[in-house]
Amino acid sequence: MEVLNSQSQSPTQSKLALENVLGMKGGDGDSSYVNNSLCQLKMVQALKPILERSIHENMRFEFNRRGILRIADFGCGTGQNTLVVADTIVRALQCSLEEREMPEFEVYFTDLPSNDFNLLSYFAAAVCGSHFKRLFPQKSLHFCHSSASLHWISQVPESVQQRRSPRVYVSNDCEGIVGAAYLHQFNTDFTAFLNARAREIVDGGSMFISLVGRNAGTQLMEEQGILGNIARHLEYAFEELVNEDIVEREKWKSFYIPWFGPSLEEVESIVKKEGSFEIGNMRVLGGVPMHPMTHWKQGEEKMFGIFVANQYRALFENIIEVHLGSERLTDEFFLRIAKRASTQFEEYIPKEIELVVALLIKNGAHNNSY
Ligand SMILES: C[S@@+](CC[C@H](N)C(=O)[O-])C[C@H]1O[C@@H](n2cnc3c(N)ncnc32)[C@H](O)[C@@H]1O
Repeated sequence: MEVLNSQSQSPTQSKLALENVLGMKGGDGDSSYVNNSLCQLKMVQALKPILERSIHENMRFEFNRRGILRIADFGCGTGQNTLVVADTIVRALQCSLEEREMPEFEVYFTDLPSNDFNLLSYFAAAVCGSHFKRLFPQKSLHFCHSSASLHWISQVPESVQQRRSPRVYVSNDCEGIVGAAYLHQFNTDFTAFLNARAREIVDGGSMFISLVGRNAGTQLMEEQGILGNIARHLEYAFEELVNEDIVEREKWKSFYIPWFGPSLEEVESIVKKEGSFEIGNMRVLGGVPMHPMTHWKQGEEKMFGIFVANQYRALFENIIEVHLGSERLTDEFFLRIAKRASTQFEEYIPKEIELVVALLIKNGAHNNSY
C-alpha cells in the first residue's frame, strides 16, 4: 500500500491511508514514542505556566451546580505527556472554581486509530478519529487542548505529490509554489479543526493549542525551523540510499512529510476568518529548552547517533516503512540517520524550537451556566 505516493488513490483514500499509519511508534521499546518524547514533554512543561494562567484569566463559563466538566486532549499520543497536560488542566480549573461547588472531571484522550492508547496507564476514555472531523456531541466540552499535533496535516497537497521534486518537505523553489500548496492544506485542515471544535465546545469554553511553527514570513525550507531541519536529515538518508543503489530515486522523489509549521500571522488569519473563536492570547514562543538533545558531549557520538535514530523512528517509522515497503529498507534508512548523526553531531542538536501558542475562547454568550 502506498501512502504518500498516492497518485493512483483518490484524495479521500489517500487521507484514510495516511490516518492509518500516521500514529507515533507504539509499545515501550527503545524506539517507541513513549521512550522518545522527552522533547515534547519539555514543550509541555515550558507551556505549563502559560496554560495555567490562561485558564485562571479566561475562564468565562459559570459552573453553579454539581455537574461534569469535560476536557479533551486532541492528538494526545501515548505516554506521560498527555497525562501531565490533563493533570495541569484539572488542577488549574479546580483552583479557578475554588469557591464554588466542585464538579466531577471527565478527560477524553483523542488521537488517530493508529495511536497506541494502551500506554495511557490509567483508566481513561480514548476517542479514536481524526480531529479534523467532529468527535463529540454538540456543546459537550468545556476545555480543549492540543500540543505538538496540529502541524501534522491530513495529506500532502495533491499538487505537490505530482511535482516529483527531490524534496521531502517545503521546497526552496523560488516561485514558492510548494510552500503555498502546504499553506493551503494547513488552512483547510486547521479551519476544519476549528469548525468541529466550535460545535463541540460550550459557549465561553476555551481551547489551548500549541504547535511547531516559525517566525519567518516565507515558507522556504531554510526558514522552517526545526521542521525544516528534521526534513533535511530525512532527505540525507534518502540521498544516501539512492547513491548506494539501495532505494530507487523515484522513492525519494515521491516522499513528502505531511506537516507544516505556520507563522503566527497565518494562524491568526485562519482563526479570524473561521470566526467561531476569539483570540485570548497568542504568541510565538522561542528558545524552548531541548534537553536531552543538548546534553551530549564529545566522545559520545555513537550513542548520540543511536539516540537520534530512535527519536526519528518514534515519529516516522510507520510512514517510512509503508513508503519503502519493507522492514529491511526501513532499518537501512534509520541506520543512515544514526551514522550521519554520529559524525555530524552538531547539526543534529536542535538550536531552538519555535512554538505557536494560542488560547482561543469560543464566541457566544458569556457567563453561561452548565
Ligand atoms: C508528536 S505527537 C504529540 C503527542 C502529545 N500531544 C505530546 O505532546 O506528546 C503528535 C500526535 O498527533 C496525532 N495526530 C496527527 N494527526 C492527527 C489527526 N488528524 N487527528 C488526530 N490526531 C492526529 C498523532 O497520531 C500523534 O499521536
